[in-house]
Amino acid sequence: MEWVDGNLHLLDQTKLPGSEEIVICKTVEDVCESIRKMVVRGAPAIGCAAAFGYVLGVRTLVKDLNVENKSPDSCSSVVTKGREKIYYSLLKTRPTAVNLEWALKQMQSLDYREHESMGSYVNAIESKAKYILQEDINTNLKIGEIGADFLGQCRSVLTHCNAGGLATGGYGTALGVIRSIKSRLGNINVFATETRPLLQGARLTAWELTKDDIQVTLITDSMCGALMQTREIDAVIVGADRITANGDVVNKIGTYTVSVLAKENSIPFYVAAPWSTVDLGTRSGRDVEIEQRNVNEVRGFGGNVWAQENLNIFNPAFDVTPVEYVSAVITERGVIRGRIELQETRRS
Ligand code: MRU
Repeated sequence: MEWVDGNLHLLDQTKLPGSEEIVICKTVEDVCESIRKMVVRGAPAIGCAAAFGYVLGVRTLVKDLNVENKSPDSCSSVVTKGREKIYYSLLKTRPTAVNLEWALKQMQSLDYREHESMGSYVNAIESKAKYILQEDINTNLKIGEIGADFLGQCRSVLTHCNAGGLATGGYGTALGVIRSIKSRLGNINVFATETRPLLQGARLTAWELTKDDIQVTLITDSMCGALMQTREIDAVIVGADRITANGDVVNKIGTYTVSVLAKENSIPFYVAAPWSTVDLGTRSGRDVEIEQRNVNEVRGFGGNVWAQENLNIFNPAFDVTPVEYVSAVITERGVIRGRIELQETRRS
């Protein structure tokens, strides 16, 4: 994603890998729609996009009220109400990834009453959104280095969904670690699950890795067990949408299945995620709202429908991998095993 002349440019992930099209978001509503339709997706990426959506919303609010040169005190209550509306419109686009709320809280924490004019407040939130995006990229680079140190001589990994540059500000979490290993060892073999129903693995992970000249083999989700039995897989590495205080990992539907198969086959199961994905305020994965998506996503894909009308369809977008299946979580603060809550308490 890119902030260009005061608008948010997004590479339309619904069109990849067939075509590379840019969606230009000029309003907060454009950003909400892009998140909902998954033009932009992946936990850190929707956080960054929401930060820019917030800027677009507040900028329009200030313009519509014609208060750019006014002091915040003169328009306090109407701005407070407007900001709340913008905040919640973005927050409710997708419920599961905590990065969205994290980024919006960062934006909301800038107090407009501390600025001389509403115009200077808008400049300040624009800088903040740019900072969040840049910080996310820096964080991923750090996760990549820490992950490559930790995984050492890992030559063959399995990943699920897309936790790459597309799902973040850039570089990626799980794919960031893979990129860092590749730059140290010269090569790494990646097995990517196709990731039904929206095919983030087949369409996005395969596209990203191929572009970077990283060896990738595509499998269907149901092939993971056979792959682990018959090929040398050194580790599984995935991203996360939310990691709760007890260490449970909420991630793309199918992650739990992969983690159980990894344990059964004595393969370590690693999660790479920024600290903005850690939610110490939520006790366990059972307390996280799992997004339920449109049943047509399961009925078919890309205009092709293969399941009959009126079937009962279950379409949760995420699942919970219990902490006991997670060998370690790789963050920019270091590698964590087990309960996050306890480790955080010990650190502070
Ligand atoms: O529904 P999506 O495509 O937004 O789900 C994305 C995932 O589950 C990713 O694995 C997760 O957000 C981590 S991305 C660094």
